[in-house]
Amino acid sequence: MKHLIDIQSLSNQEILNIINLAKEFKNGTKKSDVEKKTLALMFYENSTRTRCSFEIAAQKLNMNIINFDAAHSSLAKGESLKDTIENLYFLGVNAVVIRHSFSGIINNVMKQVKYNMHFVNGGDGTHAHPSQALLDFYTMLEKIGNIENKKITIIGDVSHSRVAKSNISLLSKFGADIHLCAPTYLQFENKTAFNVRYHNEVQEAIDGANVVMVLRVQNERHEKEGYPDSSEYKRLYEIDTKLLKKYAADDVILMHPGPANRNIEVSSELLDNQVGKTILEQAQNGVYVRMAILNTILKGSEG
Ligand code: CP
Repeated sequence: MKHLIDIQSLSNQEILNIINLAKEFKNGTKKSDVEKKTLALMFYENSTRTRCSFEIAAQKLNMNIINFDAAHSSLAKGESLKDTIENLYFLGVNAVVIRHSFSGIINNVMKQVKYNMHFVNGGDGTHAHPSQALLDFYTMLEKIGNIENKKITIIGDVSHSRVAKSNISLLSKFGADIHLCAPTYLQFENKTAFNVRYHNEVQEAIDGANVVMVLRVQNERHEKEGYPDSSEYKRLYEIDTKLLKKYAADDVILMHPGPANRNIEVSSELLDNQVGKTILEQAQNGVYVRMAILNTILKGSEG
């Protein structure tokens, strides 16, 4: 495994290897194999969790880190991403984490770059966010042991969500019972593309659910501004303590990749109570999972 571009390209064993390595990093029994390798963080879209946790992961692995400043780089003078990355390679960068608004851009540039750079997808458009799906899987395993036949409900703007797509891909590989809940206009256009069940009503979607994963409405990716109306969305889809208690499994886990919009897709009260704490634990697990990803792709690489 030289790169992390999407979940489909990984075998179940490769996924489990990352999970097991992340566990070792978390409990302090594994040392870095990639000391002094250099990582560049190339974020062309906003990020808090992914960017900071990759940076902390690289620090913990004793790597060198370049915080590439896209807005002030020579990309603004017309240099292509391919040329930028090839130059970074010759400056001594071994791996790049790229976040970008164009779906598929990382795959494209990876094919153009001639040198042995390692690529990590930090989220590309509506396509994929594989490190998020891996840290979500890690958190689920930590909390419920295994996910086979467990009811996992993803609620929100699934059509624009790279997190939903990467999670569906990963959870399907491990036999989860996946349910999606969204207004019709935020569901996938091709409903047969994934082996999931769709619901319009949130009560039905979370009935007996072991995991409820809430997603933000991604207004920045919508062609039509102000749609859906947030008060209408809140009325129909907001998850709160009362709803979870009434319908979901007693030991349900609440997840959210972040950033969360309080009192729209999830109530502020739920975010701040014990159930909501899992969301912060997800972010924390991101550090160990990203250590495992960097260690795996860079171990034994030249440079
Ligand atoms: N989950 C996630 O990708 O968060 P950031 O956008 O803050 O990185």
